[in-house]
Amino acid sequence: MFGLKKSKGVVGLDIGSHAIKAVELIPKRKAGTEAYELAKIAYEVLPHDSIVEGTIIDSTAVVETIRLIFEENKIKNRNVAISISGNSVIIKKISLPHMEREELAESIIWEAKHNIPYPYEETNVDYAILKPPKGTETKSLDILLVAAKKDKIANYSNVVHQAKKNLVAIEVDVFALQNALEINYPETFENKTVAMVNIGANITNILILERGLPQLFRDLSLGGSFFTENMRKELTISLDEAERLLKGLPVKNVDEAHVEEILSQNIRDLVDEIDKTFTFYEAGDKKERKIEQIFLSGGLANLKALPVAFEERFAVPTEIFNPFRNIHYKEKDFDSVLIKETPSIFGVAVGLALRRMD
Ligand SMILES: Nc1ncnc2c1ncn2[C@@H]1O[C@H](COP(=O)(O)OP(=O)(O)OP(=O)(O)O)[C@@H](O)[C@H]1O
Ligand SMILES: [Mg+2]
Repeated sequence: MFGLKKSKGVVGLDIGSHAIKAVELIPKRKAGTEAYELAKIAYEVLPHDSIVEGTIIDSTAVVETIRLIFEENKIKNRNVAISISGNSVIIKKISLPHMEREELAESIIWEAKHNIPYPYEETNVDYAILKPPKGTETKSLDILLVAAKKDKIANYSNVVHQAKKNLVAIEVDVFALQNALEINYPETFENKTVAMVNIGANITNILILERGLPQLFRDLSLGGSFFTENMRKELTISLDEAERLLKGLPVKNVDEAHVEEILSQNIRDLVDEIDKTFTFYEAGDKKERKIEQIFLSGGLANLKALPVAFEERFAVPTEIFNPFRNIHYKEKDFDSVLIKETPSIFGVAVGLALRRMD
Protein backbone atom coordinates (compact mmCIF):
# COMPACT_ATOMS: atom_id res chain seq x y z
CA MET A 1 0.00 0.00 0.00
CA PHE A 2 2.38 2.69 1.19
CA GLY A 3 5.12 2.00 -1.37
CA LEU A 4 8.35 3.78 -0.65
CA LYS A 5 10.84 2.56 -3.22
CA LYS A 6 10.73 0.16 -6.15
CA SER A 7 12.82 -2.97 -5.95
CA LYS A 8 12.82 -6.57 -7.21
CA GLY A 9 12.80 -9.28 -4.60
CA VAL A 10 11.91 -8.38 -1.03
CA VAL A 11 11.91 -10.13 2.31
CA GLY A 12 8.40 -10.23 3.76
CA LEU A 13 8.85 -9.42 7.44
CA ASP A 14 5.79 -10.01 9.62
CA ILE A 15 6.44 -8.30 12.96
CA GLY A 16 3.79 -9.92 15.16
CA SER A 17 3.38 -9.37 18.89
CA HIS A 18 4.28 -13.01 19.58
CA ALA A 19 6.85 -13.78 16.90
CA ILE A 20 8.63 -12.30 13.89
CA LYS A 21 8.27 -14.26 10.67
CA ALA A 22 10.36 -13.74 7.52
CA VAL A 23 9.93 -15.15 4.02
CA GLU A 24 11.95 -14.40 0.90
CA LEU A 25 10.58 -15.47 -2.49
CA ILE A 26 12.21 -15.40 -5.89
CA PRO A 27 9.76 -14.45 -8.64
CA LYS A 28 9.89 -16.76 -11.71
CA ARG A 29 8.06 -16.05 -14.93
CA LYS A 30 6.59 -19.26 -16.22
CA ALA A 31 4.51 -19.28 -19.41
CA GLY A 32 3.14 -15.81 -18.70
CA THR A 33 1.93 -16.72 -15.23
CA GLU A 34 3.42 -15.79 -11.92
CA ALA A 35 5.42 -18.38 -10.08
CA TYR A 36 7.57 -18.13 -7.00
CA GLU A 37 10.38 -20.09 -5.46
CA LEU A 38 11.10 -20.07 -1.76
CA ALA A 39 14.51 -18.62 -0.95
CA LYS A 40 14.36 -18.19 2.85
CA ILE A 41 12.03 -18.81 5.74
CA ALA A 42 12.59 -17.78 9.37
CA TYR A 43 10.73 -17.61 12.66
CA GLU A 44 11.75 -16.11 15.99
CA VAL A 45 9.63 -15.60 19.12
CA LEU A 46 9.81 -12.14 20.75
CA PRO A 47 10.25 -11.57 24.50
CA HIS A 48 6.86 -11.13 26.25
CA ASP A 49 5.47 -7.60 26.10
CA SER A 50 7.90 -6.31 23.45
CA ILE A 51 4.77 -5.24 21.55
CA VAL A 52 1.72 -4.29 23.61
CA GLU A 53 -1.65 -3.33 22.13
CA GLY A 54 -0.13 -2.82 18.72
CA THR A 55 2.74 -0.59 19.87
CA ILE A 56 6.39 -1.62 19.88
CA ILE A 57 7.38 -0.91 23.50
CA ASP A 58 10.75 -2.64 23.59
CA SER A 59 12.29 -1.58 20.30
CA THR A 60 15.72 -2.95 21.29
CA ALA A 61 14.29 -6.46 21.62
CA VAL A 62 12.49 -6.17 18.27
CA VAL A 63 15.59 -4.78 16.48
CA GLU A 64 17.77 -7.55 17.95
CA THR A 65 15.27 -10.21 16.89
CA ILE A 66 15.17 -8.84 13.33
CA ARG A 67 18.98 -8.87 13.22
CA LEU A 68 19.05 -12.42 14.58
CA ILE A 69 16.56 -13.60 11.96
CA PHE A 70 18.71 -12.24 9.13
CA GLU A 71 22.02 -13.45 10.58
CA GLU A 72 20.99 -16.95 11.69
CA ASN A 73 19.27 -17.67 8.40
CA LYS A 74 21.89 -15.99 6.23
CA ILE A 75 19.35 -13.73 4.58
CA LYS A 76 21.44 -11.43 2.37
CA ASN A 77 18.60 -9.43 0.82
CA ARG A 78 18.20 -6.25 2.88
CA ASN A 79 15.02 -5.04 1.14
CA VAL A 80 12.13 -5.53 3.50
CA ALA A 81 8.34 -5.22 3.29
CA ILE A 82 6.44 -5.05 6.58
CA SER A 83 2.77 -4.79 7.46
CA ILE A 84 0.63 -3.14 10.09
CA SER A 85 -2.82 -3.94 11.46
CA GLY A 86 -5.23 -3.19 14.27
CA ASN A 87 -7.22 -0.09 15.01
CA SER A 88 -4.61 2.38 13.72
CA VAL A 89 -5.41 1.13 10.24
CA ILE A 90 -8.76 1.99 8.66
CA ILE A 91 -9.96 0.42 5.42
CA LYS A 92 -13.13 1.69 3.76
CA LYS A 93 -14.74 0.64 0.53
CA ILE A 94 -16.22 3.60 -1.30
CA SER A 95 -17.85 4.14 -4.70
CA LEU A 96 -17.09 7.18 -6.83
CA PRO A 97 -18.23 8.14 -10.32
CA HIS A 98 -15.64 7.73 -13.09
CA MET A 99 -13.41 10.80 -13.19
CA GLU A 100 -10.02 12.12 -14.27
CA ARG A 101 -6.97 11.28 -12.20
CA GLU A 102 -6.52 14.75 -10.71
CA GLU A 103 -10.14 15.02 -9.76
CA LEU A 104 -9.97 11.55 -8.25
CA ALA A 105 -7.02 12.53 -6.04
CA GLU A 106 -9.07 15.45 -4.69
CA SER A 107 -12.12 13.27 -4.10
CA ILE A 108 -10.00 10.74 -2.23
CA ILE A 109 -8.78 13.44 0.15
CA TRP A 110 -12.36 14.61 0.70
CA GLU A 111 -13.56 11.04 1.31
CA ALA A 112 -10.66 10.35 3.66
CA LYS A 113 -11.44 13.46 5.70
CA HIS A 114 -15.07 12.40 6.04
CA ASN A 115 -14.71 8.64 6.43
CA ILE A 116 -11.78 8.24 8.77
CA PRO A 117 -12.16 8.65 12.50
CA TYR A 118 -8.72 10.26 12.94
CA PRO A 119 -7.55 13.77 12.03
CA TYR A 120 -6.48 13.69 8.38
CA GLU A 121 -3.11 15.30 9.24
CA GLU A 122 -2.28 12.39 11.57
CA THR A 123 -2.73 9.72 8.90
CA ASN A 124 -1.14 8.51 5.70
CA VAL A 125 -3.79 7.81 3.09
CA ASP A 126 -3.58 5.54 0.07
CA TYR A 127 -6.12 3.87 -2.19
CA ALA A 128 -6.58 1.06 -4.66
CA ILE A 129 -9.13 0.92 -7.48
CA LEU A 130 -10.93 -2.43 -7.43
CA LYS A 131 -11.28 -4.30 -10.70
CA PRO A 132 -14.96 -4.80 -11.64
CA PRO A 133 -16.06 -8.47 -11.72
CA LYS A 134 -15.33 -10.25 -15.01
CA GLY A 135 -17.85 -9.51 -17.76
CA THR A 136 -19.53 -6.62 -15.95
CA GLU A 137 -19.67 -2.96 -16.85
CA THR A 138 -19.82 -0.47 -14.04
CA LYS A 139 -20.75 3.18 -13.98
CA SER A 140 -18.79 3.79 -10.80
CA LEU A 141 -15.31 3.18 -9.48
CA ASP A 142 -15.07 0.93 -6.44
CA ILE A 143 -12.20 2.10 -4.33
CA LEU A 144 -10.49 0.81 -1.22
CA LEU A 145 -9.45 3.72 0.91
CA VAL A 146 -6.71 2.94 3.41
CA ALA A 147 -5.55 5.24 6.15
CA ALA A 148 -2.92 4.46 8.74
CA LYS A 149 -1.87 6.53 11.73
CA LYS A 150 1.50 8.18 11.10
CA ASP A 151 2.74 7.33 14.59
CA LYS A 152 2.04 3.63 13.98
CA ILE A 153 3.96 3.76 10.69
CA ALA A 154 6.87 5.53 12.39
CA ASN A 155 6.87 3.04 15.29
CA TYR A 156 7.20 0.05 12.92
CA SER A 157 9.50 1.74 10.37
CA ASN A 158 11.98 2.71 13.09
CA VAL A 159 12.82 -0.85 14.10
CA VAL A 160 13.48 -1.80 10.49
CA HIS A 161 15.78 1.19 10.02
CA GLN A 162 17.53 0.48 13.31
CA ALA A 163 18.11 -3.11 12.19
CA LYS A 164 19.85 -1.58 9.12
CA LYS A 165 17.38 -2.87 6.55
CA ASN A 166 15.89 -1.02 3.58
CA LEU A 167 12.19 -0.56 4.08
CA VAL A 168 10.63 -0.80 0.63
CA ALA A 169 6.95 -1.14 1.48
CA ILE A 170 4.47 -0.97 4.32
CA GLU A 171 1.42 -3.13 3.70
CA VAL A 172 -1.67 -3.98 5.69
CA ASP A 173 -2.00 -7.55 7.06
CA VAL A 174 -5.32 -8.24 5.33
CA PHE A 175 -3.98 -7.24 1.88
CA ALA A 176 -0.91 -9.43 2.36
CA LEU A 177 -3.23 -12.32 3.27
CA GLN A 178 -5.41 -11.67 0.23
CA ASN A 179 -2.35 -11.85 -2.03
CA ALA A 180 -1.17 -15.06 -0.38
CA LEU A 181 -4.63 -16.57 -0.89
CA GLU A 182 -4.84 -15.56 -4.55
CA ILE A 183 -1.48 -17.10 -5.42
CA ASN A 184 -1.98 -20.32 -3.49
CA TYR A 185 -5.66 -21.10 -4.05
CA PRO A 186 -6.47 -19.42 -7.39
CA GLU A 187 -9.52 -21.61 -8.18
CA THR A 188 -11.20 -21.00 -4.82
CA PHE A 189 -10.19 -17.34 -4.89
CA GLU A 190 -11.83 -16.75 -8.27
CA ASN A 191 -14.95 -18.86 -7.86
CA LYS A 192 -16.09 -18.74 -4.27
CA THR A 193 -17.05 -16.51 -1.39
CA VAL A 194 -14.16 -17.05 0.97
CA ALA A 195 -13.57 -15.96 4.54
CA MET A 196 -10.01 -15.96 5.73
CA VAL A 197 -9.41 -15.76 9.46
CA ASN A 198 -5.82 -15.12 10.56
CA ILE A 199 -5.59 -15.66 14.31
CA GLY A 200 -2.41 -14.37 15.93
CA ALA A 201 -1.58 -13.63 19.53
CA ASN A 202 -3.46 -10.36 19.94
CA ILE A 203 -5.10 -9.65 16.61
CA THR A 204 -7.43 -11.65 14.42
CA ASN A 205 -7.60 -10.41 10.83
CA ILE A 206 -10.77 -11.28 8.94
CA LEU A 207 -11.20 -10.84 5.21
CA ILE A 208 -14.18 -11.84 3.13
CA LEU A 209 -13.83 -12.00 -0.64
CA GLU A 210 -16.56 -12.71 -3.17
CA ARG A 211 -14.99 -14.27 -6.25
CA GLY A 212 -11.80 -12.36 -5.59
CA LEU A 213 -13.51 -9.08 -4.80
CA PRO A 214 -12.94 -7.67 -1.31
CA GLN A 215 -16.20 -7.36 0.64
CA LEU A 216 -15.06 -6.93 4.19
CA PHE A 217 -11.80 -6.43 6.07
CA ARG A 218 -11.72 -6.35 9.85
CA ASP A 219 -9.18 -6.66 12.65
CA LEU A 220 -10.48 -7.89 16.00
CA SER A 221 -8.61 -7.77 19.32
CA LEU A 222 -8.59 -11.54 19.74
CA GLY A 223 -5.95 -14.23 19.71
CA GLY A 224 -3.80 -16.75 21.50
CA SER A 225 -2.55 -14.41 24.20
CA PHE A 226 -6.08 -14.24 25.62
CA PHE A 227 -6.03 -18.06 25.82
CA THR A 228 -2.64 -18.16 27.54
CA GLU A 229 -3.55 -15.33 29.91
CA ASN A 230 -6.75 -17.13 30.97
CA MET A 231 -4.87 -20.40 31.46
CA ARG A 232 -2.18 -18.65 33.50
CA LYS A 233 -4.80 -17.15 35.83
CA GLU A 234 -7.11 -20.13 36.17
CA LEU A 235 -4.43 -22.80 36.52
CA THR A 236 -1.92 -20.60 38.40
CA ILE A 237 0.90 -21.45 36.02
CA SER A 238 3.48 -19.33 34.17
CA LEU A 239 2.85 -17.84 30.73
CA ASP A 240 5.48 -20.16 29.27
CA GLU A 241 3.65 -23.16 30.70
CA ALA A 242 0.35 -21.86 29.32
CA GLU A 243 2.08 -21.51 25.94
CA ARG A 244 3.15 -25.18 26.14
CA LEU A 245 -0.38 -26.30 26.95
CA LEU A 246 -1.72 -24.36 23.98
CA LYS A 247 0.69 -26.26 21.74
CA GLY A 248 -0.43 -29.58 23.24
CA LEU A 249 2.85 -30.10 25.14
CA PRO A 250 2.87 -31.58 28.66
CA VAL A 251 3.08 -29.45 31.81
CA LYS A 252 3.54 -31.01 35.25
CA ASN A 253 0.80 -30.91 37.88
CA VAL A 254 -2.06 -29.56 35.81
CA ASP A 255 -5.49 -31.07 35.65
CA GLU A 256 -5.99 -32.05 32.00
CA ALA A 257 -9.77 -31.93 32.24
CA HIS A 258 -9.53 -28.38 33.55
CA VAL A 259 -7.20 -27.43 30.65
CA GLU A 260 -9.70 -28.86 28.15
CA GLU A 261 -12.53 -26.97 29.80
CA ILE A 262 -10.66 -23.63 29.63
CA LEU A 263 -9.66 -24.26 26.02
CA SER A 264 -13.22 -25.11 24.98
CA GLN A 265 -14.58 -21.99 26.66
CA ASN A 266 -11.96 -19.79 24.97
CA ILE A 267 -12.65 -21.35 21.59
CA ARG A 268 -16.38 -20.73 22.06
CA ASP A 269 -15.74 -17.07 22.93
CA LEU A 270 -13.44 -16.66 19.91
CA VAL A 271 -15.91 -18.26 17.50
CA ASP A 272 -18.74 -16.13 18.98
CA GLU A 273 -16.86 -12.94 18.12
CA ILE A 274 -16.01 -14.12 14.62
CA ASP A 275 -19.65 -15.13 14.17
CA LYS A 276 -20.67 -11.48 14.71
CA THR A 277 -18.49 -10.37 11.79
CA PHE A 278 -19.73 -13.19 9.53
CA THR A 279 -23.35 -12.36 10.44
CA PHE A 280 -22.72 -8.67 9.77
CA TYR A 281 -21.51 -9.58 6.29
CA GLU A 282 -24.20 -12.14 5.45
CA ALA A 283 -27.03 -9.93 6.72
CA GLY A 284 -25.58 -6.74 5.31
CA ASP A 285 -27.25 -6.59 1.92
CA LYS A 286 -30.49 -7.48 0.22
CA LYS A 287 -28.86 -10.01 -2.06
CA GLU A 288 -28.08 -13.52 -0.96
CA ARG A 289 -24.68 -13.72 0.70
CA LYS A 290 -23.17 -16.91 1.97
CA ILE A 291 -19.63 -17.76 2.95
CA GLU A 292 -18.69 -20.96 1.09
CA GLN A 293 -15.19 -21.66 2.34
CA ILE A 294 -13.22 -20.70 5.45
CA PHE A 295 -9.43 -20.64 5.66
CA LEU A 296 -7.74 -20.45 9.04
CA SER A 297 -4.23 -19.10 9.39
CA GLY A 298 -1.91 -17.59 12.01
CA GLY A 299 -0.36 -19.28 15.03
CA LEU A 300 -3.62 -20.18 16.74
CA ALA A 301 -4.88 -21.99 13.63
CA ASN A 302 -2.62 -24.81 14.82
CA LEU A 303 -4.88 -25.44 17.77
CA LYS A 304 -6.17 -28.93 17.06
CA ALA A 305 -9.81 -28.30 18.01
CA LEU A 306 -10.23 -25.11 15.98
CA PRO A 307 -11.22 -26.25 12.46
CA VAL A 308 -13.89 -28.55 13.88
CA ALA A 309 -15.25 -25.75 16.07
CA PHE A 310 -15.61 -23.57 12.94
CA GLU A 311 -17.26 -26.31 10.89
CA GLU A 312 -19.71 -27.07 13.68
CA ARG A 313 -20.66 -23.45 14.17
CA PHE A 314 -20.85 -22.25 10.59
CA ALA A 315 -21.49 -25.46 8.63
CA VAL A 316 -18.91 -24.26 6.10
CA PRO A 317 -15.88 -26.31 4.94
CA THR A 318 -12.91 -25.08 6.96
CA GLU A 319 -9.31 -25.65 5.99
CA ILE A 320 -5.94 -24.68 7.42
CA PHE A 321 -4.37 -22.22 5.01
CA ASN A 322 -1.11 -23.32 3.44
CA PRO A 323 0.77 -20.27 2.12
CA PHE A 324 3.34 -22.54 0.43
CA ARG A 325 0.78 -24.55 -1.56
CA ASN A 326 1.85 -23.01 -4.87
CA ILE A 327 5.39 -22.00 -3.93
CA HIS A 328 8.22 -24.13 -5.24
CA TYR A 329 10.92 -25.35 -2.88
CA LYS A 330 13.24 -28.28 -2.42
CA GLU A 331 12.26 -30.10 0.75
CA LYS A 332 15.82 -30.87 1.74
CA ASP A 333 16.72 -27.16 1.81
CA PHE A 334 14.18 -26.13 4.43
CA ASP A 335 13.31 -26.73 8.05
CA SER A 336 10.50 -29.22 7.58
CA VAL A 337 8.97 -28.48 11.00
CA LEU A 338 8.21 -24.88 10.06
CA ILE A 339 6.88 -25.67 6.60
CA LYS A 340 5.17 -29.00 7.24
CA GLU A 341 3.78 -28.61 10.74
CA THR A 342 2.87 -24.93 11.13
CA PRO A 343 2.86 -23.37 7.64
CA SER A 344 -0.19 -21.20 8.38
CA ILE A 345 1.95 -18.99 10.64
CA PHE A 346 3.59 -17.59 7.48
CA GLY A 347 0.45 -16.35 5.70
CA VAL A 348 1.21 -12.64 6.15
CA ALA A 349 4.97 -13.02 5.53
CA VAL A 350 4.36 -14.88 2.24
CA GLY A 351 1.85 -12.23 1.16
CA LEU A 352 4.41 -9.52 1.87
CA ALA A 353 7.15 -11.36 0.00
CA LEU A 354 4.86 -11.47 -3.08
CA ARG A 355 4.71 -7.69 -2.92
CA ARG A 356 1.99 -7.30 -5.48
CA MET A 357 0.81 -3.81 -4.88
CA ASP A 358 -1.63 -1.85 -6.99
N1 LIG B 1 1.39 -25.06 17.48
C1 LIG B 1 0.58 -24.15 18.04
N2 LIG B 1 -0.61 -24.52 18.56
C2 LIG B 1 -1.43 -23.63 19.12
N3 LIG B 1 -1.15 -22.30 19.24
C3 LIG B 1 0.01 -21.88 18.74
C4 LIG B 1 0.94 -22.77 18.11
N4 LIG B 1 2.01 -22.05 17.72
C5 LIG B 1 1.75 -20.78 18.06
N5 LIG B 1 0.58 -20.68 18.68
C6 LIG B 1 -0.05 -19.44 19.23
O1 LIG B 1 -0.29 -18.55 18.16
C7 LIG B 1 -0.08 -17.20 18.60
C8 LIG B 1 0.95 -16.57 17.69
O2 LIG B 1 0.52 -16.57 16.36
P1 LIG B 1 1.13 -15.58 15.29
O3 LIG B 1 2.57 -15.83 15.15
O4 LIG B 1 0.28 -15.66 14.10
O5 LIG B 1 0.90 -14.19 16.05
P2 LIG B 1 1.61 -12.80 15.84
O6 LIG B 1 1.58 -12.46 14.40
O7 LIG B 1 2.95 -12.80 16.48
O8 LIG B 1 0.66 -11.86 16.70
P3 LIG B 1 -0.32 -10.64 16.32
O9 LIG B 1 -0.40 -10.54 14.82
O10 LIG B 1 -1.61 -10.99 16.94
O11 LIG B 1 0.32 -9.46 16.95
C9 LIG B 1 0.42 -17.27 20.02
O12 LIG B 1 -0.66 -16.98 20.90
C10 LIG B 1 0.87 -18.71 20.18
O13 LIG B 1 0.68 -19.15 21.49
MG1 LIG C 1 0.16 -11.54 13.15
